[in-house]
Order: sequence, then structure tokens, then C-alpha cells
Amino acid sequence: MAPSVPSSSVASVLGSPVAVNPAVAAFPKLAKLIAYLDGLRGRVDLATLDALLRDSHVSIDDLRPAISFGTRGYRRNTICRSEHYELLALCWRSGHCTPIHDHRGVSCAFRVIHGEGTEIRFSMSPSGLVIPQRAISMRPGYVCSADEPDIHQVVNAQAPENDLVTMHIYSPPIQHMNTFRPTEPCERLAVYGADDEGISI
Ligand SMILES: [Fe+2]
Repeated sequence: MAPSVPSSSVASVLGSPVAVNPAVAAFPKLAKLIAYLDGLRGRVDLATLDALLRDSHVSIDDLRPAISFGTRGYRRNTICRSEHYELLALCWRSGHCTPIHDHRGVSCAFRVIHGEGTEIRFSMSPSGLVIPQRAISMRPGYVCSADEPDIHQVVNAQAPENDLVTMHIYSPPIQHMNTFRPTEPCERLAVYGADDEGISI
């Protein structure tokens, strides 16, 4: 069984005079999660992110204020953030996909909220080029947590008219990432403002 959100940490946040994050008014189902995240004073480890997301039983309707789709690629919609984390809803039309990327320097996990996603995992070959290893179907409720060296790509491979919504936590907020192409060496890309389209992990 997945561990639950540490209740003592949540209680210490809720019991202190810390102001309630205004995002709670728009996302009341996320109140416990946001209270925990706002109590962070540093980077959170991947196992904790995984547990937090497994405990986050939310629907697309619970995230409605953050549901916005892009046209050129998937869109990152910020729910709330601090210097230690960002909580996002990513909205993907059919065919939208991330670059192939790793997770150096950031704890990163997400939960599938609506639709079915596909995770394509890669390995690094001795040549320095990445090689696809397997594809995993991710239905609603699936939690994907990627370790720092893990290389993958997330895709909405569903037929047209079938959207994908995922909820992501990054700690700390992502600034840069290493991206890969199957026939080219590693490249380091900046991750732009919170709601830009097309670049995210
Ligand atoms: Fe990723």
C-alpha cells in the first residue's frame, strides 16, 4: 500500500498561522496537498511525491480552472508554486508529446487524471545515443515517477478528439532539462514560463 501524505506535516501547516494558499479556493479538492507542499522548505524526494500523487484522487472537474489546451503542443497550467515546488495540470490534445528527456536536478512525478497517456522509456547506448526500450499505457490513476537518470517521453497517442490531462509536481520548479533525439547527442533546453507550450517534463 502506498504511504499516505504525512499527516503530522500537514497538521503543523494547518495548525500554524500560515496563510491559506489562494489556490485552495479554486481547487478545494487539492487543499491537503497544497498545504503539504506549501510547508516544504527544500526539495522533496521522489518517494514522497509518488505517495502524494497516489493519495490525490481528483477528477478533471476538480482541476477545471486549470484545464486549458494549447494548439502547438501540450500546455502547462500552473495550479500553484513556491521556490520549492510547482503543481501543474498539463493538457494534451491527441499527438502532443514531450521531448525525450531526463530528470537531472529535479524530483518529478505525475498522475494521469483524464484520458490515456503513453510513456516511452529509453536507455542510453554506449554511443551516447538513446534507444527506445518499451512503451507503457497509463490510464487514469496511474502515477509515473521518474528518477534523475531515467530517460523517457510522454505522449498522447490516443486518436483525435481524445484529450489527456495529467497533474504534475516538480521539486524544485523545473528550469532546464536535458533532451535527446534518437540520432543526436544530448542537448540542454531551458524550460520557459509556467504556461508556455511545448517544453516541459
Ligand atoms: Fe519526465
